[in-house]
Amino acid sequence: AYDEAGSGLPLLLVHGWPYDRTMWAGQLSGLATYARVLAPDLRGVGGSTVRGPYTMDQYADDLAAFLDSLGIARAVVCGLSMGGYISFAMLRRHRDRIRGLILADTRATADTDELRANRARLIALIEQEGMTALAARQLEPSVARSTLERQAPLADTVRRMMASVPAEGAIGALRAMAERPDSTPLLGTIDVPTLFVGGAEDGITPPDVLRTMAAAVPHSRVEILEHGGHLSPLERPAAFNHVVTEFLGALLYD
Ligand code: MLT
Repeated sequence: AYDEAGSGLPLLLVHGWPYDRTMWAGQLSGLATYARVLAPDLRGVGGSTVRGPYTMDQYADDLAAFLDSLGIARAVVCGLSMGGYISFAMLRRHRDRIRGLILADTRATADTDELRANRARLIALIEQEGMTALAARQLEPSVARSTLERQAPLADTVRRMMASVPAEGAIGALRAMAERPDSTPLLGTIDVPTLFVGGAEDGITPPDVLRTMAAAVPHSRVEILEHGGHLSPLERPAAFNHVVTEFLGALLYD
């Protein structure tokens, strides 16, 4: 399943975990004048099939097949968090399909043992108590404190989106993230213009993580959005769209 808006340069939006394509609503409406915006649901989520295997490589192959199905040779790939991990898998497996990269609220490093142990706890929570409990647990780290305080309806939308993800898809993604390789060695090989963007209040992938990655990527820049959390495109859509629009504009003259 996917949403589409606008025409011109294809912009492929890859959602994170445990979210779905609706997290990009503000980009579909706000960027359609500048690009052909495409927001698919990854396998296991929303309107897409809930069938494994779940690996970063499989998600990347799914996206390449999605572009094939639309007759698109190359797209600007914009991945948020797990969507960024998948963008790295696309760089490994489908580099020729990437016209430019936007890496939002993400990291290149693999999971530490501590992160893997936390994923095992989250899997147990989903198995025992379901996605509503998972959503209650994940809301606070997913959005900025200012979003919780000042945009209560938006926080509620995020909670409902997380609760609606099928348990099988959410667990598959957790296992896939735990097994993903370290993408740090890829950074120096990225040969397309790259934008790193993230929320100033992102506690999962803080601004310094983005700055460290950007220092290793030749044609890159970093934009940090005030009052944004881990879901910066959803929490700060106008600011996010502004930096993306500038990036896309520069890309056309690249
Ligand atoms: C995401 O937003 O996709 C997740 O926070 C990524 C992760 O758990 O590593």
